[in-house]
Amino acid sequence: MPLLVRAVLKVGTLLLLSGYAAMPAAQDYGDTPYVQTPQVVVDTMLKVAKVSARDYLIDLGSGDGRMIITAARRYGARGFGVDLDKRLVTLANRNAAKMGVADRAVFYERDLHDTDLAKADVLTIYLLPEVNLMVRPRILALKPGTRLVSHDYGFGEWPPDVEFTMDAPGKPVGRDQKSKVLFWVVPSRVAGTWTWQGPAGQYELQLDQVFQKITGTLSTGGRRVDIEKAVLTGTDIRFEAALDKGRQAFHGKVVDNAITGEWRGSGAPRKWAATRTALREGRFTDLKPGVTAR
Ligand SMILES: C[S@@+](CC[C@H](N)C(=O)[O-])C[C@H]1O[C@@H](n2cnc3c(N)ncnc32)[C@H](O)[C@@H]1O
Repeated sequence: MPLLVRAVLKVGTLLLLSGYAAMPAAQDYGDTPYVQTPQVVVDTMLKVAKVSARDYLIDLGSGDGRMIITAARRYGARGFGVDLDKRLVTLANRNAAKMGVADRAVFYERDLHDTDLAKADVLTIYLLPEVNLMVRPRILALKPGTRLVSHDYGFGEWPPDVEFTMDAPGKPVGRDQKSKVLFWVVPSRVAGTWTWQGPAGQYELQLDQVFQKITGTLSTGGRRVDIEKAVLTGTDIRFEAALDKGRQAFHGKVVDNAITGEWRGSGAPRKWAATRTALREGRFTDLKPGVTAR
């Protein structure tokens, strides 16, 4: 049986048992029924996303508001949640008022597919995997560095940066009382050719990209080597290369078509400032035509 159907049936059964059954379904096929995230999982998700008072959160399918309300109470963050279910939205706004955070945690009756996500520093999600896939292109188009934390379900072939299973006592679905927490950072688009001047003359870095996974080569003075231990986290890029005079470790920050940072080898650390001289289409499978770099 397809996962969505199994999940809906499983959730449907639990909703019947949980007394929520008296409420007619508020969603059409393709969306996600109401199931609460246990508070211990909410707490862990916000911790994994390193939420702070500087963050603006958006919760897609906000239920009783627990995600944004906890972020506001515990960390002083701000944000909003959207839900199709009017009664849940009323409940969430009431809960925010009760907890004294109505000025920082607001809930709207709105379709998540019509919700502008641009303001988010952190997105929180507990939706079925098929719904996650519908939203994925819009998430990948957000500003690099935007954090995304999801309960139980992933985003297809976009691999999480962090993933683990935890005890979830009181979870209303599933037999094992366990939850998965998954975390991503929206990556900069770095595919292409980057060049800069260094001690051995011109350096050329060729990068390929599949979501946040990067591979490539670095060349200078007629030598070309594969880069190693390459990690892209949002706008932060790191890799090593065994070029002239042993292994060199590069670290930089990507802003559009520029990378600036530091590079360490056997001698004193050096600065590097690279410019993208040729763009390559990274394999973000759901890139919209014309969107090539941010
Ligand atoms: C699994 S529940 C998660 C609730 C809450 N985020 C939590 O973790 O406790 C999913 C929620 O998404 C809402 N939802 C489903 N489809 C939606 C859509 N298209 N737009 C907005 N909300 C939606 C449902 O009403 C439900 O409250």
